[in-house]
Amino acid sequence: MEIRDVVLRPSYTSRGDETIEATVQVGSASATVTAPAGASTGETEVVHLPKGGFNTVIVNFDKSKLIGVDASDLKAVYEGLVKIGGSDRFEKIGGATAFSVSVASLVAEALASGRKIFSLIGLEPTIPYPLGNVLGGGKHAGPGSPDIQEFLASPVGAKNAFEAITLNILVHKEVRKEIEKKDPTFAGGKGDEGAWAAKLTDEEAFDIVRRAIDKVSKEHGVRIIMGVDMASSTLYENGVYNYARKGKKLTREEQLSYVEKIINDYDLKYVEDPFNEDDFESFAELTRSVKALIVGDDLYTTNYERLKKGAQIKAGNGVILKINQVGTVYQAKLFAELAHKNGYAVITSHRSGDVCEGYLADIAVGMGSALMKSGVVGGERISKLIRLARINEQEANIPLWRSTV
Ligand code: PGA
Ligand code: ZN
Repeated sequence: MEIRDVVLRPSYTSRGDETIEATVQVGSASATVTAPAGASTGETEVVHLPKGGFNTVIVNFDKSKLIGVDASDLKAVYEGLVKIGGSDRFEKIGGATAFSVSVASLVAEALASGRKIFSLIGLEPTIPYPLGNVLGGGKHAGPGSPDIQEFLASPVGAKNAFEAITLNILVHKEVRKEIEKKDPTFAGGKGDEGAWAAKLTDEEAFDIVRRAIDKVSKEHGVRIIMGVDMASSTLYENGVYNYARKGKKLTREEQLSYVEKIINDYDLKYVEDPFNEDDFESFAELTRSVKALIVGDDLYTTNYERLKKGAQIKAGNGVILKINQVGTVYQAKLFAELAHKNGYAVITSHRSGDVCEGYLADIAVGMGSALMKSGVVGGERISKLIRLARINEQEANIPLWRSTV
């Protein structure tokens, strides 16, 4: 159905970053969607907002290029936004505007036509397991917290999404108890994604999360895998990985051995961004040497051309999909399609600054994702998790992802 109107407003993410809210009217329905924003962003991501922020966006946003466009045609919406944004990098309006308008068009089309949001994407849907951030450091927490950005859990043995969400919440609670055993003065601080932010070394953090996961997994008889997002580009300086809080610098070779060691020592099944964002070769080498999901976030930035390059040498076996890294649902869909074709697991992800809307779940299902990455607690995280559980309850025919690790 045709887009009849688009209205933009300034808004904020959970972290207080300036962002864009779009209301798109399709037929007699309308939907409002707000863009999230990252902090540990990849070099090749599109810019969040142009210089001047909302004021620049509103001057540049010529909505006549979208009026009359068929909202069910993802490519047509993308093309309209490219005309307005100046190029497929959307430099005149930012990825935040491209995201909010393109997702709002999809949601409004679903409401107007009575179809499901995930089915409008046009890929084979899957119910992903939640991948939850339970303990954090790096750019999402303050000094004294671990160098590694995120310690993650995913109950891939759960019988449904709701059970998996519940188990991740239990792991999150258990991690707090373990931190308090180590540091009775722990004040309960959390990072941007609701993960505990404590004064811990990486090794202490690994021990704590491993113990918490093992306890919950054993008590409930459900397999829960452990993972990390190393966000290594944020550690990389002058050719070495600088673990500033630990006071250690690792060369590429030392980083490779270190990652292999933590995978073995802590039985990690998911490792995101273990190397700097341009080091495709090291991703490929690690993927050959271990049995775990090796996932590119800053490496790929949801960018089709980068994945085409990386897939040739099998750099990683999983990709993070964040629509606002690239702009629109259409571009993300092409990226997901290429990932599936090359045997990569798709992990659809929130951003560290996010909003209290649940559409990430609809998108994760529609992109055929293995995992949906988000925080475990906080309104902007719970909204996505509960939405995932409801889709799972309503769509008995859509299978849950079957773990390959
Ligand atoms: P971001 O980080 O949303 O701050 O970019 C999340 C991640 O690195 O996965
Ligand atoms: Zn990441």
